[in-house]
Amino acid sequence: MRYVGSYVKCIVDSTRCAKCGFCKLVNICYSPNQCTGCLSCYWSCPYNARRKEEKIEERRLLSIEVDGAKHMVPEGITVKKALELIGYVFTKYPVKRGLSSPCCIGGCWSCAVLINGALERSCITPIEEGMKIETDTSGEEPLRIVHGPEPHSVGGKATPWSEKKRGRYIEVAIWVAGCNLRCPQCQNYSVTYDNSSAPYTPSRAARLITYYRRRYGVNGLAISGGEPTINRRWLIRYFRELRRLNPDEDARLHLDSNGTVLTPDYIDELVEVGCNNIGVEPKGARVETFMEITGIKDRELAEKYLSTSWRAIKYIADNYLDRVYLGVGLPYNPVFMSLEEVAEVGDKIARIDPEIQVCVLDYFPTFRRRDIRRPTPSQMLRVKKVLEETGLKYVIVQTSIGHIGP
Ligand code: SF4
Ligand code: SF4
Ligand code: SF4
Ligand code: FES
Repeated sequence: MRYVGSYVKCIVDSTRCAKCGFCKLVNICYSPNQCTGCLSCYWSCPYNARRKEEKIEERRLLSIEVDGAKHMVPEGITVKKALELIGYVFTKYPVKRGLSSPCCIGGCWSCAVLINGALERSCITPIEEGMKIETDTSGEEPLRIVHGPEPHSVGGKATPWSEKKRGRYIEVAIWVAGCNLRCPQCQNYSVTYDNSSAPYTPSRAARLITYYRRRYGVNGLAISGGEPTINRRWLIRYFRELRRLNPDEDARLHLDSNGTVLTPDYIDELVEVGCNNIGVEPKGARVETFMEITGIKDRELAEKYLSTSWRAIKYIADNYLDRVYLGVGLPYNPVFMSLEEVAEVGDKIARIDPEIQVCVLDYFPTFRRRDIRRPTPSQMLRVKKVLEETGLKYVIVQTSIGHIGP
C-alpha cells in the first residue's frame, strides 16, 4: 500500500557549511539513509547550514503496533510523527503523565516511548516495519543525557554571593542536554544539542554528583543545561534521590533554569523533593526581546514562556523564601537589550522583593551569533548601576575580568 503526503527533508547548504563536524560527532542523524524531517540537524547546526525542503511524495505504508493496536503509517518519518498521525498528542510543556516533546533534538528524552521493549526517543527515531510501540512509560526509569560533574568556583545565577566571593570551589555541577528554546547565541550549545551521548538514570546522576561533592568538599550541587526542567519525571526523581543522598542542612540542591515551564505545581513538587536553591532566567521584560534572544518565533508561545518565567520568580518569592534561595539571571548584550529594558527588568524584580539576588550574564559571541561582541566590563558595570538604581540590593555582573558583586 502507498500513501501520498507532504514530507520535510533537510539538506546541507554547502555554501554555508563550515565542515565543523558537529553533525557527525555531537548532534548526529539517526536516519542517514532516508531523512525523516526530524529537524534535529536543522536546529543544531552552529553555522545555520541546513535547509528544509517540503515535497509531496508517494510513500510505502508500513505496519506498526501501538499500544496493542495495528496501524499503517508512511515510511521515512519519525516515531513521533507516526504517533501524531495516529492521533496521539505531544505537548510542549512537560507533563507528569502523557507525551511531551519539548526539545525535538534528541537531548532531553522527554519524548521517549518503548520501542520494541526499550526506551527510545520518538522525536529522532525513524519508524520501521513491524515496530511495536508502547506509550505508557510510567514503569520505566526515565533517562537523560548528562555532562559532568565538574567543580565550579563561581556557580550559577542563584549561587549565593556569600559563597561566590570565596574564590575556591563552591559547587559541583552537571549539565543536561536538550532545551525548549532556540537561542541563536546558546552559551552552552555543545551540551544543549548533544543527542549522541549515552543517557543516565536520575539515580546514576545523583550518585555521581554526590561523589563529586565529597571529593571537592563543597555544599552546592547544581544542575544546569540545556534546560533541566523539560524532563519533569527525570528531574523530580533526580532531586528526590539527591536529597536522600545529601540529607544534611548544608547541602544546597541547586536548579538553574530558564523558568519557561516552571509552573507553580512544578515548583511545589521540586521543593517537596528537596530542591532548595532555584535560579530563574526570564531573558527580558518584553516579549520582542525574549523572541530575539531565544529564537522562538511563535509569539503566543513566547508570551506564555516569558510570563511563566516571571510568575515562577514571584511564586517562589511569595511562598518559599524561607526554604529556597532564589536568584534571577539576566542575559545582557547591547545588541538585544537596551538599558531602558534593563531598568524595566530591575523594577519588576524590585517590586517582587528588592533582596532577590540578580546575576547579569555578559552574553558572548558563539553558536549562530558569532557577529556580536562580548560586553566590556565597563558596560556591565553600567548595567549593574541601572539595576541598583531600581532598588535591588544584590546585583552581580559576570564580566571578562570576573564576577563583580554588591
Ligand atoms: S554541523 Fe553544519 S556546518 Fe558543521 S559540518 Fe554539519 S552541516 Fe556543516
Ligand atoms: S537529523 Fe533528521 S532532519 Fe537531519 S538529515 Fe537526519 S533525519 Fe533528516
Ligand atoms: S535557554 Fe540556555 S540552554 Fe536553552 S537555548 Fe537558550 S542559552 Fe541555550
Ligand atoms: S523531545 Fe525528544 S529528546 Fe527532547
